[in-house]
Amino acid sequence: MGNCMDSSARVDTSQSSQNTSGLGRIANWVLSSFCGQSKFTNTTSRSSAPSTLTVPSFSEKSSSSLPTPRSEGEILASPNLKPFTFSELKNATRNFRPDSLLGEGGFGYVFKGWIDEQTLAATKPGSGMVIAVKKLKPEGFQGHKEWLTEVNYLGQLHHPNLVKLVGYCSEGENRLLVYEFMPKGSLENHLFRRGPQPLSWEIRIKVAVGAARGLFFLHESEVIYRDFKASNILLDSEFNAKLSDFGLAKAGPTGDRTHVSTQVMGTHGYAAPEYVATGRLSAKSDVYSFGVVLLELLSGRRAVDKSKIGIEQNLVDWAKPYLGDKRKLFRIMDSKLEGQYPQKGAYFAANLALHCISSESKSRPLMSEVLTALDQLKDPKNLSKHSHSDHKTISYSLRKSPMRSHPSPRNLTPGGGASPLLSNRRSPRVR
Ligand SMILES: Nc1ncnc2c1ncn2[C@@H]1O[C@H](COP(=O)(O)OP(=O)(O)OP(=O)(O)O)[C@@H](O)[C@H]1O
Ligand SMILES: [Mg+2]
Repeated sequence: MGNCMDSSARVDTSQSSQNTSGLGRIANWVLSSFCGQSKFTNTTSRSSAPSTLTVPSFSEKSSSSLPTPRSEGEILASPNLKPFTFSELKNATRNFRPDSLLGEGGFGYVFKGWIDEQTLAATKPGSGMVIAVKKLKPEGFQGHKEWLTEVNYLGQLHHPNLVKLVGYCSEGENRLLVYEFMPKGSLENHLFRRGPQPLSWEIRIKVAVGAARGLFFLHESEVIYRDFKASNILLDSEFNAKLSDFGLAKAGPTGDRTHVSTQVMGTHGYAAPEYVATGRLSAKSDVYSFGVVLLELLSGRRAVDKSKIGIEQNLVDWAKPYLGDKRKLFRIMDSKLEGQYPQKGAYFAANLALHCISSESKSRPLMSEVLTALDQLKDPKNLSKHSHSDHKTISYSLRKSPMRSHPSPRNLTPGGGASPLLSNRRSPRVR
């Protein structure tokens, strides 16, 4: 704990430890719970499954918090980032030509560009390293603040499931961000846009696992992401998921606190209800958003879809009654899967999503637990070994974590000084 790191990066070390025997044991234990065994029963058939008090977890590893606050000068001086001039980025993107456009978000346009891998100087299109350049619309203070927040976090946090920030540009009114290029674009494009081949079940699970790893890493670093959604999950050529857009990220609570109180920001349909109601933000708010994305992966439907009628406009409200019912689950599954998914796996994933979107934040699992559960889904044999359980829930242990967020009853009191929802953006984003 409290292992401060100056300008050096916080680099992931969890990947190599993910298959330790301890974790294998947790995974079995979560699975056993799914298959109907009480988590507190220490039967001989589960002798390898430790009790909730002794279960080793990702969160027991020492976590390091990032040094905050840092001045703008300190943030921009990150040795991991290249400061680009505006004219360098103009050259790299062929003057931000429309045919280099990769996409548009609430903050501005994203263009494809090329730079030399060694010198990072602009190169001819088609040679060197491909980059994505996000050019912020001139937005005033809030836009600059979020740009700087992103430079701050991505200058320090490095993980295979976070998009890599190569550098930035701050020249006059211009604010730009330069990222590694993600050839398959966003998960949103694949799930909801016509055109790309529908994602298979296996790819959907792979994406969920990658995104969960990224989120878990952030929580271990005591950072709340606050903007977990399909458009912020980018995909490389092999569908490895990387989280992008850290403009809303926030340092997690310190000491014994379970939440930070802050202005409500995020995206409708993904933001946790208690955060929207009270402004109290915890790691469990991200877990809720993860549950919504897992539902999007299962159903192929958007978190909010105004083209639908009534309850179907809101994915959580519409899907919730089906998630714990094995016989009805198929009704919400994405028809683009054409039935090509393991039924037990789908039921397991639906139960996991149901836990993540619990209206009480303390009932939601930690990201370490989500990750352990998802690892089971990668190997369907694990699920079929355990059969015929009609139990409708997965149980999770509640253990201490650096980002624990089990609010006291006091914290559940609504109206705790929350800021109103400010305005709707394209997606529709709340700022
Ligand atoms: N590093 C990248 N590589 C490839 N494409 C990218 C990259 N970053 C962004 N894009 C593309 O640009 C689009 C717009 O991204 P952006 O983050 O600006 O907005 P958004 O996430 O869609 O919306 P919001 O502003 O609400 O976050 C993405 O959906 C994606 O298709
Ligand atoms: Mg985005």
